[in-house]
Amino acid sequence: MKKTVEDVKWEGKTALVRVDFNVPLKNGVITDDRRITAALPTIEYLAGHGAKVVLMSHLGRPEGEPKPEFTLKPVADRLSELLQKDVIFCPSDIVVDDKVKDTAKALEPGQVMLLENVRYRREETRNGADFAKELASLGDVFVNDAFGTAHRAHASTAGIADYIPCVSGYLIEKEVKFLGDTLEDPDRPFVAIMGGAKVGDKIPVIRNLLKKVDYLLIGGGMTYTFYKAQGLETGKSIIDEENVELAGKLLEEAGMLGVKLMLPLDSVCAKEFANDAERGVFKAEAMPADMMGLDIGPETVEAYRKVIETAATIVWNGPLGVFEMDNFAEGTRKIAEALAESKAVTVIGGGDSAAAVEKFGLADKMTHISTGGGASLEFLEGKVLPGVAVIEDK
Ligand code: 3PG
Repeated sequence: MKKTVEDVKWEGKTALVRVDFNVPLKNGVITDDRRITAALPTIEYLAGHGAKVVLMSHLGRPEGEPKPEFTLKPVADRLSELLQKDVIFCPSDIVVDDKVKDTAKALEPGQVMLLENVRYRREETRNGADFAKELASLGDVFVNDAFGTAHRAHASTAGIADYIPCVSGYLIEKEVKFLGDTLEDPDRPFVAIMGGAKVGDKIPVIRNLLKKVDYLLIGGGMTYTFYKAQGLETGKSIIDEENVELAGKLLEEAGMLGVKLMLPLDSVCAKEFANDAERGVFKAEAMPADMMGLDIGPETVEAYRKVIETAATIVWNGPLGVFEMDNFAEGTRKIAEALAESKAVTVIGGGDSAAAVEKFGLADKMTHISTGGGASLEFLEGKVLPGVAVIEDK
């Protein structure tokens, strides 16, 4: 068991909190604030228990330079609205300077301040000890609540714990509980649904899941690499050439482990990668040479739905088609609906699958939607995340 914010007496102490406010922005406007709302329980708990709260986060990849388009100012404004109180924003090009230190020192219990983008400093992603020490000097206890960045061993996610004690915030605690419990002790049948374009990106996850699940349902662009491994026609579909052989091995491994690995029975294919392209539904053995597969077909949806109906635990990572285009979104939508109707524990990996569930208005029907894309994938691979490893045990 890891220590949490509830294991510290906060009166008079400064909590230095790493959050993941890496939110999407369009023309300076936040288009999805889920990562900010997900951090509110921790911030509110700390402020409500007499802590002075110093928040730090990255935004995008400014590559060690202060670039105005990566400022956290819009996040500070949104956070002020959500908390309904002033968030003191400290815009320093070097993140920590004398003014920032003085502001942190002068905080009253319950006040909240936000540092500038920690990736304005090159030492952040290099886990530089001097920068970690500078950050640590701003607080008494390090609270890590940045699940989305927990797979990075950076100065503000891991290095800082060399200098001050580290506990977890509520978000990391919740993410680790849902993802961890699901993998360690799932109610069965345990079904994993894997989508996305490239097999290569998902191989370690598939390997780890094969040891744990009863069914593995495949969809998305990676389908056609598996087809190719079976010698099927794949037309103009995306193929992860380097991993065709490996895809064949994964099929064999699944067989040896007694896992039912299912590939799409049919696909919605199109002549071009465009929403209005000429399209049709074709069975796996009858893919036309001049078309590409862009979604799972209706027979596949039915077959996968039947498996989902029997499941007690479901993990889903990666869309099953190009859901951003309406004509190729049905497969992903129907599977999301099947999960929403299911009584199983449903855990959605972050990134695209989370965006899909959100787009279809089904987010509140899922047991847990991770805020971490890369982080949830690495967790599903069975890796220990550096940002979780630094949290002290009870
Ligand atoms: C994410 O969005 O996955 C995290 O915020 C990590 O960002 P990064 O991939 O730039 O490290």
